[in-house]
Amino acid sequence: MPNAAGRSESEYKKEYGQFFTSRPVAEFMAKWVMEKQPKTILDPAVGEGRFLWEIMKFLPLKSDAGELSVAAYEIDPNMAERFRNIFNSRISHDLHQLKLCVEDYLKAEAKMQYDAIICNPPYHKFQQIPDREQIRRLFSERYGITLSGYCNASSYFLVKSIYELAPGGRCAYIMPYEFFNTGYGEAVKRVLLEQGALKYIIKFDSSVRVFEDALTTCCILLLEKPMENIRIKNCGMMENTVIFSEIHSLEQLNWEDIASISKAIPEQRLDCHEKWLSYFLKEALVTNTHNLIQLKKIGRVSRGIATGGNQFFALSREMICRHHLSGEVCLPCVVKASDVKNVIFNEDVYRRLYEGNRKIAIFNGVCAHTEQDKAYIRYGEENGIHEGYLTSHRSPWYAIEKKTPAPIWIAVFSRNRIKVVRNEMMIRTLTAFHGIYIEDAAFSTEDINLLFCWLLTPTGQKLLKGNKREYGDGLDKFEPGDLMEADVLDVRKMKSRDRTDALAYYQKMADTLDPDLQQDMICSIDHIMKKYIN
Ligand SMILES: C[S@@+](CC[C@H](N)C(=O)[O-])C[C@H]1O[C@@H](n2cnc3c(N)ncnc32)[C@H](O)[C@@H]1O
Repeated sequence: MPNAAGRSESEYKKEYGQFFTSRPVAEFMAKWVMEKQPKTILDPAVGEGRFLWEIMKFLPLKSDAGELSVAAYEIDPNMAERFRNIFNSRISHDLHQLKLCVEDYLKAEAKMQYDAIICNPPYHKFQQIPDREQIRRLFSERYGITLSGYCNASSYFLVKSIYELAPGGRCAYIMPYEFFNTGYGEAVKRVLLEQGALKYIIKFDSSVRVFEDALTTCCILLLEKPMENIRIKNCGMMENTVIFSEIHSLEQLNWEDIASISKAIPEQRLDCHEKWLSYFLKEALVTNTHNLIQLKKIGRVSRGIATGGNQFFALSREMICRHHLSGEVCLPCVVKASDVKNVIFNEDVYRRLYEGNRKIAIFNGVCAHTEQDKAYIRYGEENGIHEGYLTSHRSPWYAIEKKTPAPIWIAVFSRNRIKVVRNEMMIRTLTAFHGIYIEDAAFSTEDINLLFCWLLTPTGQKLLKGNKREYGDGLDKFEPGDLMEADVLDVRKMKSRDRTDALAYYQKMADTLDPDLQQDMICSIDHIMKKYIN
């Protein structure tokens, strides 16, 4: 249904980031902030006032309620009107001191510090905010920090709220957690650590739909600011610990379940440069870190070839025949991750793709020498392929990026299992996969096979997942830099007997090509390898 400004309702909601907190979540968060009986409360993005509704349930007596002062911000006048309609009668009875500010919270001057702050901020990209430059300036003037424009708007809300929280005050935020694992999130993590207020991070597994109408990663942050904001370290005082907990359903949002699946990490061990998703996994998984090594210490990870026009460059058998292309211009290549069903990519698998008329090569125009090859280049030009962004920046436009084949591929996107493939045929791949290149000269082919085995194991995959980016709804993504930072088993430290056994399973995997049997082999390899890390 279009609104007055001609936007559909969903466009309008998206513009303002209007996704509402469900009752159990609002209740859980309200309980945290109300436990310390605050006198002043702030909701920086109030919407219809779901949190205030829950907060009112904690008010002991009407007479006491008069002492409570509540401030709420809402940027959208229509939403503010809805809020007033819902709350009008309650405001006059229970919340005498409710002040609704119909303005932008991020620009509003901080008038005071609050005993309690509770918030479900908008989740859009900061770059979509029209007044972003002014807001960035304000943040740098007020707090001396410059947050990246790539940050989610919710990060700006969180940072402002942390500064507006009174000593001893509590804060509950529900927000996306991309900032755990991204470079632009470092500044947010630094503020959280510097202020010493972070108590709990309750992360929803990416398969949990926390909001009915929004696909997003989601976590609840529970904060309590120390009474003394200047904290003296190393003087025998109790150090703050942060509880990391991952829950897999909304039903688990209760203290009993959270306590049973949580890990306490001393705040001083948290590092704003590290990927915080790994804290959810690594602590539980690894007791011996001596046998781990970061991928970047043994090699590098690089994305596959970007052609700038797969419809032209990616070739199937039928296209090669139809255009009579010579063998020299057809570079064997994997185009789609979905074409690779098997963990080992060899000539048998390639032949099957070829016979099934899948795209199995890319056109390498610089090797064109027959009339038909040259005609195919003209055909590309007639179809405007040379005018694309990538192709127009290449000379000649039909030259393929120079990338050598990588021995191991990891799919850029995955759900549940991360797709790891041993490229036995040593062919190229497009951007569906990143390639792992081993640069340590002391790494033998056997070591590469063992590293591949490790990346396939459930233990190796869990460790890898600490470095992923989540897109909500269970979709995970890796950038090459994420993989470079990941810890893997240093397979050179394995005992000779274990190496032999694991390699025997590898060979069986290569021989069967049956996915079910391969799963059994992977479990056996996991059994051999995981003892090296715990
Ligand atoms: C995600 S909704 C949450 C609403 C409510 N607190 C809840 O949890 O159901 C965020 C609300 O903040 C409002 N909002 C968006 N940007 C804002 C800003 N810069 N200042 C204040 N409110 C804002 C939106 O209009 C929306 O109503």
